[in-house]
Amino acid sequence: TNPAPHYVIGFSQCTTADAWRQAMLAGMRKELSFYPNVTFRLKDARDDSRRQQQQIQEFLREKVDLLIVSANEAEPVTPVVEEAFNRGIPVVILDRRTTSKLYTAYVGGNNVEVGRAAGRYVGSLLGGRGNVLEIEGLAGASPAVDRHRGFAAALAAYPGVRLAARVQGDWKRPSVIRNLPAVLRAHPEVNLIFAHNDRMALGAYQVCKQLGLSHRVRVVGVDGLAGPQGGIQLVQDGVLTATLLYPPGGEEAIRTAMRILQHQPYDKENVLGTMVIDSTNVLTMKMQTEQLAAQQQDIERQQRLLQQQRDTYASQQTVLYGLAGA
Ligand code: FRU
Repeated sequence: TNPAPHYVIGFSQCTTADAWRQAMLAGMRKELSFYPNVTFRLKDARDDSRRQQQQIQEFLREKVDLLIVSANEAEPVTPVVEEAFNRGIPVVILDRRTTSKLYTAYVGGNNVEVGRAAGRYVGSLLGGRGNVLEIEGLAGASPAVDRHRGFAAALAAYPGVRLAARVQGDWKRPSVIRNLPAVLRAHPEVNLIFAHNDRMALGAYQVCKQLGLSHRVRVVGVDGLAGPQGGIQLVQDGVLTATLLYPPGGEEAIRTAMRILQHQPYDKENVLGTMVIDSTNVLTMKMQTEQLAAQQQDIERQQRLLQQQRDTYASQQTVLYGLAGA
């Protein structure tokens, strides 16, 4: 049989500086370990859409075989992604979309659905009466746009629940620490905060605590990461009332990319599900994620062992050849 052809995958990532993106990357590397014939190149735009445009241009000059993109902001990154697609480079959009239909496949959550699920949960949690504050992700990033749309649409079914204020965030905690106090002082009626991710939700909780509000303002986030500072732990600790699971999708992105490169059938839309994590199911979630992590470690131990055996075998072969030649 022919050796597997060599492929170069370029990944234009909006940022790498948070645990959710790290989990995404870990998932990608895990799946990539099955493909020694793939070179994986990552360029980190560090939250800068201009830099992301330039880095995608670089990928085009480097003639990657496939491009994976998580667009910092949809609008400014769209033209260069369209250019790649029009040049015949397959494009997998991961999590943050462009505004264009010109891409090969999408992998990630349905963020309108994430917002809707949050809105339904909040509506019933408040018993149909209350005042909600929404802390949004970076303006112009597709998950922020879509989460707000879904959230507002679901709340519309609860006429007694009012969206009292919207705060412009940037996915990061410090902006919330800076901007939220003034908004909360102006809106003392607020009794629930929906933040577009768990990092901003944690910031919201800290502000509430600082202002002596944490007993009567509940906080709901998005992401539901495992691990010590992840959303699952925050729900277990009672910092967050709930979080909406938003899987990073790294493994799925590489699987889809490989199907495209190998000319196998693939789906254009690969939507990863969401669910509410709250006090009723957080322990189950925690146990399951811990078990998964333990299994992952076992697999890595087995791989190391196999590699050691291969190395030993190879050195014994060398000794044998040496003897035969003598
Ligand atoms: C990580 C992150 C997540 C959020 C996602 C949206 O960089 O901010 O917290 O769910 O990006 O694209």
